[in-house]
Amino acid sequence: MAKTQLNLAVHLVRLESQTDFAGWRDAARRLATNDIPPEDAAWQVEPDGETRGKDLPAAHADARLVVPRDFIERAETVICHCDPERFGFLYRLLWRLRSEPKLLSIATDPDIRKLEAMEKAVGRDIHKMRAFVRFRKIGEGAEERYVAWFEPEHFIVERNADFFVRRFTGMRWTILTPHASADWDGERLAIGPGAGKRDAPAEDDAEALWRTYFENIFNPARLKVKAMQKEMPKKYWRNLPEASLIPDLIAGADKAASDMIARMPTTPAPHHAKVKAKHWPVPQPANADETENADTIPELRAVAKGCHRCPLWRDATQTVFGEGPENAEVIFVGEQPGDQEDLAGKPFVGPAGKMFDSILDDAAIDRRKVYVTNAVKHFKFEPRGKRRIHSKPNAGEIQACRWWLDKELDLIKPNLVVALGATAAQSLLGKAVPITKMRGDVVERDDGLRVFLTIHPSFILRIREQEDKEAERGRFLSDMRKVRELMGA
Ligand code: URA
Repeated sequence: MAKTQLNLAVHLVRLESQTDFAGWRDAARRLATNDIPPEDAAWQVEPDGETRGKDLPAAHADARLVVPRDFIERAETVICHCDPERFGFLYRLLWRLRSEPKLLSIATDPDIRKLEAMEKAVGRDIHKMRAFVRFRKIGEGAEERYVAWFEPEHFIVERNADFFVRRFTGMRWTILTPHASADWDGERLAIGPGAGKRDAPAEDDAEALWRTYFENIFNPARLKVKAMQKEMPKKYWRNLPEASLIPDLIAGADKAASDMIARMPTTPAPHHAKVKAKHWPVPQPANADETENADTIPELRAVAKGCHRCPLWRDATQTVFGEGPENAEVIFVGEQPGDQEDLAGKPFVGPAGKMFDSILDDAAIDRRKVYVTNAVKHFKFEPRGKRRIHSKPNAGEIQACRWWLDKELDLIKPNLVVALGATAAQSLLGKAVPITKMRGDVVERDDGLRVFLTIHPSFILRIREQEDKEAERGRFLSDMRKVRELMGA
């Protein structure tokens, strides 16, 4: 009997969505200012009805309701939690705050502990979404857009959408989740209904890139399986292209770690020392006149032997300058010399060079007729045992070496320049550009020079799966065929 009476007294709050914070706040104000206790209020989400506040008394104009700002901010987070009881729970806290203004600072209070745990869970989910959303490209040209499928634990899509807008402002993207979707058309953010995994594309060209990246950053000596699964819970694995590698990498981690220890720096291989001795001491740095007066490529190459524009000259064997005819129509720009180039003093003669040569050949481009150089002219590496492992040049090194590249461009005056990979593109365009997205584009610089963007051939070498490798080689070959067409244009 008592139960029925209690139910009759219940005020039903209808919220428009799972994250209708404005609705919750309005209802909480009406309930509290009319002295309606938490047990007399029931909360439910009714997406399509214009029902908000319908069954509730208006807020009491004379009643004062002072709510700490901190509570409002925390409630705004907690409303994104998936616990269906959260609306009532938050109202209970608000109710208690009226008579216990210090409540939020009582860390031992069970309600406060719960508030904190819910807040943390939402925060973690927001962080996971930022880390594990993987976009897949659909459409080409004007139709190009990026779509991601993600399964958050809580209702965090709207709360996180601004982050993705800021991070991917220049892309048109959609993030689909079971509860809501966020869509950015380059100008406007729209939050829409949830979707199914089947609505998202399955696989795209960037998958191989993610896998290669993950393999390269994976450090077997630092593997802590439990910690890794905590940070990257298995439920996210199915949507991460790189996750297919995890079981194998974990299985091979012990061996990989001992191999890694065996590769720790020892003395350099004897032939490195011999070649280096031949090129040392490095000529004194060229003075400004000498460089200014170098008006042929051989003269410039000779002066560049003494380049001290950045510290990379100290560990490298020699400057590896560009090579090819001075009247070349096209210049190919790589990243930096590798181990073999450093020893030989010539660009693109190692494994990436061989891959590059064979593809140029297939595209009917005669390497002897083109000029090949690098954005950075000294080999940057880390010693590992007897090996020297390529290390990416940083922005300062790229900038310092751009001086030489500009001189090469000035003297040769090519019709077209091909940027092989991100470092070359950064050097040629003066800023970092997304290569996978812009691959195949021709960017015209302010000085009228046309720059064709593509990947670096070493990317193909790093792909493990034979089928994927072949596919990537095919894509690079079609890029080179485009280059051949553009060369004459
Ligand atoms: N990679 C480059 O970018 N340049 C070379 O010369 C060799 C490998």
